[in-house]
Amino acid sequence: MIYLDHHSTTPLDPVVLEEMMPYMTERFGNPSSMDHSYGHEASVAVEEARARVADLVGARHDEIIFTSGATESDNLALVGVARRYADRGDHIITCATEHKAVLDTAAYLERTGRRVTYVPVDGFGMVDMDILEGAITPQTVLVSVMAANNEVGTIPDIGMIGEVAHRHGVPFHTDAAQAAGHIHMDVEEMHIDIMSISAHKMYGPKGVGALYVRSMRPAVRLDPIMYGGGQEGNQRSGTLNVPAIVGLGKAAQIAQGAMADEARWHCSWTKQMMDMFGGVGGVLNGHPESRLAHNLNVRFPGVDGKAIINTVSDRLAISAGSACTTETVEPSHVLLAMGLDEEEAHQSVRFGLGRYTTHEETVRAAEIVLDAVRGISRQ
Ligand SMILES: Cc1ncc(COP(=O)(O)O)c(C=O)c1O
Repeated sequence: MIYLDHHSTTPLDPVVLEEMMPYMTERFGNPSSMDHSYGHEASVAVEEARARVADLVGARHDEIIFTSGATESDNLALVGVARRYADRGDHIITCATEHKAVLDTAAYLERTGRRVTYVPVDGFGMVDMDILEGAITPQTVLVSVMAANNEVGTIPDIGMIGEVAHRHGVPFHTDAAQAAGHIHMDVEEMHIDIMSISAHKMYGPKGVGALYVRSMRPAVRLDPIMYGGGQEGNQRSGTLNVPAIVGLGKAAQIAQGAMADEARWHCSWTKQMMDMFGGVGGVLNGHPESRLAHNLNVRFPGVDGKAIINTVSDRLAISAGSACTTETVEPSHVLLAMGLDEEEAHQSVRFGLGRYTTHEETVRAAEIVLDAVRGISRQ
């Protein structure tokens, strides 16, 4: 079995697991219980993880809040800002190709009386900058655009979007679940005020993530969405999941050192796969250059993507798009937003390479898919 669904989730790096283990057994203290050494050693571990996550994205250590994952981080970012700045305005700008964690949170905010503008994208999945800037009004309290798309891998010019938002005095949030640990992210360079991060997309454990929140020049404030013990500077109550946080920290540290090499290999391997798919008329979905190196989203004209996935499922783990939206037969909202029609969207398949993927596996995977495409076309 070849696993090429790394946008859905990544396996745990064994080094990460090793680092986590003591915090699931003998070092079980609660980092908020500082009256004894159990709590103290847990707190030291959490702070080290915080520093590692901060270093990955060029943030200050105290600007990182731990959460249960990018879904919670996105919810906290959008709802937290909308509530905090309610006296300033009621308008949020986001993008049509965002993950459901952002889109459904925006839809919730609309139901509570806020206004949301969904900026369209071009055929490559790139945000229309003129429409984005034109949508900003004095009532706009947040611009939220993802750092890398989870389906087609397109990477928008995040720095430019941040600059435009800041020019109008509006905070900028980016969902970096697919970007952090894979491409260079720097909150200063890219004018980012709030950023969502997930551990299980970068070889860390599931159920843990982080939110970067700018503390100066200028500080951004959030209203909490959960109430309780006041952990994480009152911004995210609840006893910290110490082993998972330690895992996130280690995953971030490893990714920082590994991502440039991984991207170099993956870029040449996905190019080779795409060349092979050209033989059956495969068409690349997403931007040809500004894209995640380990992503390949291909449309096979005249062939149903789900039929390909089912045909190869005993040898190859690939998907039709976002696994995070559960079982659905709806065409991908990302591909539709990029201008594909429903039939074309259903003809698309997503590949996601990973740290442990070999070149041989990518060639084998492409051959398996080519066989399936030819077989289905003959039927
Ligand atoms: C872009 C993006 N945002 C958010 C999420 C949700 O992340 P989590 O599983 O950590 O809640 C995902 C997961 O696929 C994602 O790809």
